[in-house]
Amino acid sequence: MFRVTRRYRFAASHRLHCAQLSDERNQQLYGKCNNPYGHGHNYEVEVSAWGPLNASGRAVDAERLDELVNRQVLEPFGHRNLNADVKSFEHVVPTSENLAVEICRRLKENWSGAFPGEWPKLDRVRIAETARNIFEVKAHEIE
Ligand code: NI
Repeated sequence: MFRVTRRYRFAASHRLHCAQLSDERNQQLYGKCNNPYGHGHNYEVEVSAWGPLNASGRAVDAERLDELVNRQVLEPFGHRNLNADVKSFEHVVPTSENLAVEICRRLKENWSGAFPGEWPKLDRVRIAETARNIFEVKAHEIE
């Protein structure tokens, strides 16, 4: 079995703000990430899939994975304001944890369209928000 990881990049902006909390509490919780007009990140997303080698000596068809990630992640999220432009963040704070969950959910929901066979399976999604902040979620832990 192999685990294959491909890395993608997109830029987006967000603001960490929880509508149920007071402005003061938001400021305490999120600090400068709560600034009203938001801020941007150059996100790095790693998508890992795993499976056995097929007859062509590969475990994951990278072109199919790229097509899926482009359609489900890079196009809807790239150069967007995550709070305003992505429906799933209308009521969910777009932390990188929640972003990882959302990306993983989208890939999982559409996985069988891209990979109709038994293999490969989606394994995990990892997001680097900055060089020091990295968030990882396993696909089987997402509903
Ligand atoms: Ni941020």
